[in-house]
Amino acid sequence: MSGEFGEYENAEFWARDGWLPPWMKKIGPDYFREMIPMIGEHWMKRPDWRTHIQTDAGRANLRGQLVTRLSQAADVFVPWLAQALAMDGLRVLEIGCGSGSSTAGLAHAGARVTGVDIKGPSLTMAGKRLSLLGLEARFLEAEHTWLQEQVDASRFAGPYDLIVCYAVMEHLLIPERLNLLALARTIMQRDGALLATFETPNRFAPFDWHSSKVAFMDVLPDALVYRYAKAHSPRADHPARRKVALHPTEEEELYRFGRGVSWHEFDLGFGIANLEIVLDGYSPRSKHQKNYRSDDAYEAALAALFAKLDPPVPRGFCRPSLELLLKYVPRRP
Ligand SMILES: C[S@@+](CC[C@H](N)C(=O)[O-])C[C@H]1O[C@@H](n2cnc3c(N)ncnc32)[C@H](O)[C@@H]1O
Repeated sequence: MSGEFGEYENAEFWARDGWLPPWMKKIGPDYFREMIPMIGEHWMKRPDWRTHIQTDAGRANLRGQLVTRLSQAADVFVPWLAQALAMDGLRVLEIGCGSGSSTAGLAHAGARVTGVDIKGPSLTMAGKRLSLLGLEARFLEAEHTWLQEQVDASRFAGPYDLIVCYAVMEHLLIPERLNLLALARTIMQRDGALLATFETPNRFAPFDWHSSKVAFMDVLPDALVYRYAKAHSPRADHPARRKVALHPTEEEELYRFGRGVSWHEFDLGFGIANLEIVLDGYSPRSKHQKNYRSDDAYEAALAALFAKLDPPVPRGFCRPSLELLLKYVPRRP
């Protein structure tokens, strides 16, 4: 019997015009019935979400939050990771877990995840999502400003085998990125943990697939991005085109929406020569998405230039999305 959301409560509906792994096709109606209002109220944050989800754009948004992000985490990210790590019982610290799609993907594979985020409503959704899927994880809410200064790693007692940053670094201001990597480095040294980044737009990508959908935007300075996006971004929700400002400066508007990351942050955080690439976006199973618009010739040229730097920069930093599993191996000077 279908309830208030009709066919949207049926996993088969979502599988009909978008691939879902077999286990997700078995998700019962309660998951959809309870997650849909939470997504409408806390994630879409629009009073008219009930009518919005009946439009093509609204349905696509809903699909992303209900099933697509979860299926990508469970069926792309996890199998990619599992080539190097045994997932069952893996102790994971996930920074920026959001509403729990990536957390659920990891937990479904048997990982024991501690998810951290600054948004209370997202964490409420994450807790609900996992319990509706019959999964477990621990969630911690951090203050909005926690990465604006150095973080004491004893806050996360661990021990951890893996730190995950899935679609999060691009939303941080530069000092926050560096404080996050410093925290990661301390935990990696303390526990022997690895660090995974995934779905992280590369500043050197030829196309800004994440935020503006315009070529070469991530290498431009903020003031120019703002003006160029205002004139040329097809995205009406881009901060330069939106009518309402959400943050005090243009710079913060751009970073919170998403701004590329490159090897430079990792070099400052670890020293690039101290990083061993365990997996990257060229490893099997990384399945680059069409919208990344990767270009083999461009990446090969970039890789050739990176290889000539001193110290050389690994090829994984040439992908339009920085998908990296990293080990910290401090070398003697
Ligand atoms: C694009 S979402 C990704 C969520 C989740 N990892 C996923 O893939 O579905 C980015 C998340 O990073 C979180 N975030 C932003 N700044 C953060 C910070 N300083 N500390 C922790 N999380 C942060 C946001 O609240 C948001 O939930």
